[in-house]
Amino acid sequence: MFENVINFIQETYETKDFIPLHEPRFVGNEKKYLNECIDSTFVSSIGKFVVEFEEKIANYTGAKYAIATSNGTSALHISLLLANVERNDEVITQPLTFVATCNAISYCGAQPIFIDVGKDTMGLSSSALKDFLENKTSVKNQQCINNKTGKVIKACVPMHTFGHPCRIDEIKDICDKYYIFLIEDAAESVGSFYKDKHTGNFGQVGVMSFNGNKIITAGGGGCIVTNDKILAKKAKHLTTTAKVPHKWDFNHDMVGYNYRMPNLNAALLVAQLENLEIFLLKKRELAAAYADFFNYTTTYNFVKEPIDSHSNYWLNAIIFKDKRQRDLFLDETNSEGVMTRPIWTLMNKLPMFEHAQYDDLTNSKWLEERIVNIPSSVIL
Ligand SMILES: Cc1ncc(COP(=O)(O)O)c(C=O)c1O
Repeated sequence: MFENVINFIQETYETKDFIPLHEPRFVGNEKKYLNECIDSTFVSSIGKFVVEFEEKIANYTGAKYAIATSNGTSALHISLLLANVERNDEVITQPLTFVATCNAISYCGAQPIFIDVGKDTMGLSSSALKDFLENKTSVKNQQCINNKTGKVIKACVPMHTFGHPCRIDEIKDICDKYYIFLIEDAAESVGSFYKDKHTGNFGQVGVMSFNGNKIITAGGGGCIVTNDKILAKKAKHLTTTAKVPHKWDFNHDMVGYNYRMPNLNAALLVAQLENLEIFLLKKRELAAAYADFFNYTTTYNFVKEPIDSHSNYWLNAIIFKDKRQRDLFLDETNSEGVMTRPIWTLMNKLPMFEHAQYDDLTNSKWLEERIVNIPSSVIL
């Protein structure tokens, strides 16, 4: 039934063997820098590649400061701590996201509130956010209070789904009005820009992931970007066990975390970063080829970048008319060795978050049943 799609993907990747959803490409200085790192013996969290990576990613994204972390989840956790999110606070996010976004909220003892996504961006809807805050919260003493629970909504974590930016400038204005700290989950959107500004650079802090499936990878790694010097200093402190800098003394002035990216991972990442531009170019070529191909059918819609944005097209996606068609497609493609995957189960359906408050989730539910990711590895 979907033979034409399978053939097209096999021709595009020039193979009849298994085609994964997303695999990394190591075509630059990866081995050279890794060897350098091993020879130096500085393989752990102190080393020149960690600092070099922080300088380079700050420069690339236009953020003043970048703090390298062990992964994107730890970067999210620290960002929520920077927002002073504590036990019994609440944090707004979208139900259509990877579980790490909500796990990090739970690490702080806080509860998520789920607000719908936009159908066009698949990221937090600015109008749904505005509607919720206007009708279901009150501002008291420069704090946003949830009328239903009486709890403080401290932060908001929108996510740029599959690399496509959401309307983050509008979200920022709304959060500012309600005294809500904005953390952009830009884990998937390294190389994506909204209105010519890099994602992760709109909120008080932004979070990125360099997991093995991302556009560039450290094996495991993440980072926090910010333009706020005090937040940057605190992030570095918290991620390095809150050790007070001293030549020999071991002093820690608060409970900190061992979340700093090791030099070994940073060495890999510095090499990957050198090829980001070419990866981005190739990803856009692949997306254009998919868009062309899917243009001629009415069975599915290829997801294109939203207006005002320049997406990294990290994971390409198609939208089916209904769940039945989607399931037939998933079954046939995976049986034929072409890896495809449905979008995540909505967070409010997972046992850990099923008691969380949620607003009208019409778009999230609609998308959940219809979206499929198709192979998206860079073709060089
Ligand atoms: C939206 C989102 N947030 C957070 C993460 C967590 O990043 P990591 O796997 O590096 O911990 C990921 C990806 O893995 C993600 O896709």
